[in-house]
Amino acid sequence: MKIGVLGTGWVGLVTGNCLANLGNDVSFYDIDENKINSLKNQICPIYEPGLQELIIKNKNKTTYSTRPDEAIKDKDILFITVGTPADEDGCVDLRYIKQISRTIGENLNPQNFCLILNKSTSPPEALDIIEEEIKEIEKNNNIKYDYEIGCCPETLAEGTAIKDFSNPDRIIVGIKSEIAKGLVQKLFRPYALNQAEIIFIGPKEASLAKYASNTHLAARVAITNVISQIARKYNANTREIMKAVGKDRRIGQKFLHPSLGFGGSCFSKDIQALTFLSKQKELPGSTLLQEIINSNKSHTEHLIKDLLEHFNSLENKKITILGTAFKANVSDTRDSPAHRLIKILLELNADITVYDPKAMEETKKEFGDKINYAENENQATEGSSALIIATEWDIFRSLDLPNIKNKMQENPFFGDYRALYNEKELKDLGFKYYHV
Ligand code: UDX
Repeated sequence: MKIGVLGTGWVGLVTGNCLANLGNDVSFYDIDENKINSLKNQICPIYEPGLQELIIKNKNKTTYSTRPDEAIKDKDILFITVGTPADEDGCVDLRYIKQISRTIGENLNPQNFCLILNKSTSPPEALDIIEEEIKEIEKNNNIKYDYEIGCCPETLAEGTAIKDFSNPDRIIVGIKSEIAKGLVQKLFRPYALNQAEIIFIGPKEASLAKYASNTHLAARVAITNVISQIARKYNANTREIMKAVGKDRRIGQKFLHPSLGFGGSCFSKDIQALTFLSKQKELPGSTLLQEIINSNKSHTEHLIKDLLEHFNSLENKKITILGTAFKANVSDTRDSPAHRLIKILLELNADITVYDPKAMEETKKEFGDKINYAENENQATEGSSALIIATEWDIFRSLDLPNIKNKMQENPFFGDYRALYNEKELKDLGFKYYHV
């Protein structure tokens, strides 16, 4: 099939390259010339495991261009994958959706049916904007296009996006007509053969399903972390509690791991967006949604309390943070709990050293020479008074604890904020053990 992907960010590149890998011809469009030039040379501008290899492998099935006609004319399906940033209140900025919709309207071929699927996370209003923009161009130019607008939200997690796309548990598609359904079934047939369920619902329902999924997942993490705070007061083990909870078939095991709070580019943004919509429509649920965000932020403050209880003052205290990415196996530090923590520690004049296997560049971009950067976990902890595990990288699950203890200051603080270790083992080694 002939596919156009409009926007070469993370969602666009993963979507288009996975579809090219199935044998489709995929044309990418972006206004960013630098990005397109790198992609023309098969250089992937972002880190996502397996994506660079796929871009090289798909060389003969893909084109990258800043010319919209190449990616829009004569395509069976267009995927909109532009950015949908949000302001502080959560209001989603739909200006790029509007812009790309005009571009689509200026480049469609009146002879062909085209299915336009919005993949950018956005409220249902985005679908109206796409339609209004195309209709206006039809009216102004006195032409009639044959098209349908639908929604196919992305459900990929960073770090496993290629696997998630190629082996999905569900593909959510919001469309209305049988012709659109036929095209989608043809496109995703290889995945459906592998038991992936294509869930056909309405376009507005599909837009909201994305927000609903992320809000549910984030709420599970938020509740787990609140339970963890209570468990700590009883010296009870949260992992054991959540293991029992997750065995309830109505609940399940995933997203029940305690942490310093959730982060990343989606959870907070999507809940804020839903909170904004809820307030805008004068519904009572916004308080509950806002509280998921508020309680999530409280964990870094709680950790500061732990540190102050242990040290009294953090002035020039050498503190090591292991993991600055918002989760393991990614280089992304957007809304990372570790970055939230570093900002507070800097205000308290702590002497901070960090190590992350993949996210050091991102952390350097944000904090420059205000903090120290180590080459590995052992160097990071040398001479340090406190060690805090903020991200659950595999390498931090098997630290050489006796060696680390010997090189740290007396009576070291061990902040296990991903619940990776056994309290007794740490105490026996002489650490003062703290957890979320
Ligand atoms: C999320 C959704 O999972 C994905 O379906 C959607 O399309 C995009 O948003 P992502 O942001 O990549 O994906 O990360 P995810 O793996 O969902 O984790 C989000 C945050 O929750 C991370 O900070 C993670 O560390 C945290 N988390 C997750 C926990 O603290 N505990 C858990 O048990 C699970």
